[in-house]
Amino acid sequence: MRILITGGTGLIGRRLCKALLAEGHDLTVLSRKPETVPSKCGAGVHAMASLREWQPSQTFDAVINLAGEPIIDQRWTDKRKQVLWDSRISLTEELVRRIAAAECKPAVLLSGSAIGYYGGRGDEELDENSTAGNDFPARLCIAWEAAARAAESLGVRVCLQRTGLVLSTEDGLLGRMIPPFRLGMGTRVGDGRQWMSWVHIEDLIAIMLRLLRDDQMHGPYNATSPQPVTNAEFTRTLASVLHRPAPFVAPAALLKLSMGESASLLLEGQRVLPKRLQAAQCRFAHPDLANALGDLLSDSGD
Ligand SMILES: NC(=O)c1ccc[n+]([C@@H]2O[C@H](COP(=O)([O-])OP(=O)(O)OC[C@H]3O[C@@H](n4cnc5c(N)ncnc54)[C@H](OP(=O)(O)O)[C@@H]3O)[C@@H](O)[C@H]2O)c1
Repeated sequence: MRILITGGTGLIGRRLCKALLAEGHDLTVLSRKPETVPSKCGAGVHAMASLREWQPSQTFDAVINLAGEPIIDQRWTDKRKQVLWDSRISLTEELVRRIAAAECKPAVLLSGSAIGYYGGRGDEELDENSTAGNDFPARLCIAWEAAARAAESLGVRVCLQRTGLVLSTEDGLLGRMIPPFRLGMGTRVGDGRQWMSWVHIEDLIAIMLRLLRDDQMHGPYNATSPQPVTNAEFTRTLASVLHRPAPFVAPAALLKLSMGESASLLLEGQRVLPKRLQAAQCRFAHPDLANALGDLLSDSGD
């Protein structure tokens, strides 16, 4: 297949490109730094600097849309919220305009979303039929999904990937947690009762490959392991896998002071279940957190 990937240079995209290249697909990655695409995504991957380069006569069989500014790195000032919005919603709207202009439309658009769709929901179990939240991440995901779904009216199969916390030692939340945990400075966040719905990066890539090729699948899918845990359990498990103590607590008040509204990403959670993936018989190689962390950390030499 000829596949266009936005956000292909990111944590998920790089791993996805590797898997797609191994299957022999022809890849094009949209990037603001097109010169970095071959080194990040693989030799032979074409780079696209702007969606304006997509000519109507150029055919992609599938489009995967992962681009988005990192949501946790900075305080959510009005300016930052606009940047987060434009990098997802405006980019997706432009992508759908390009799909509309294409003489031969892709069969499928696999578009990013996140479990933030549901907002902070305490202990409630959430599946794809649960209502959306109404905080900033939820509004972002609602609009992101709606922008992608506009491609359905063009005859494109649209899958929406509500991604959980992706576990990878390369980067992301886990990549950042490992150094302090290795120093025995593991830290629980707030009261530790907030849920963390996580997914091993290899399981996520397997889910994406399935969504890409199974033409019966469409609509939203929770891309999370079937066994979410609380932050307290995540902290205990990571410390145990690393054979270190985790003696500290990051007080909620301090996080709110330093991070402002974005502290909600750490202090509130969602207990998300991958009901539609399980109904479609998707198997998880790493459904259990201790097993998933053990697997990832053994790869990184622990
Ligand atoms: N990792 C997770 O745990 C997780 C969880 C839930 C949802 N997600 C979502 O899934 C998507 C991929 O996640 P990831 O972890 O792979 O993200 P990542 O490592 O931060 O990569 C994001 C990608 O988006 C592109 N990008 C960033 N800002 C952009 C902008 N202003 N305009 C155009 N492109 C921009 C970047 O490409 P260039 O720099 O090459 O242009 C980068 O490759 C993101 O949208 C993220 O919000 C991730």
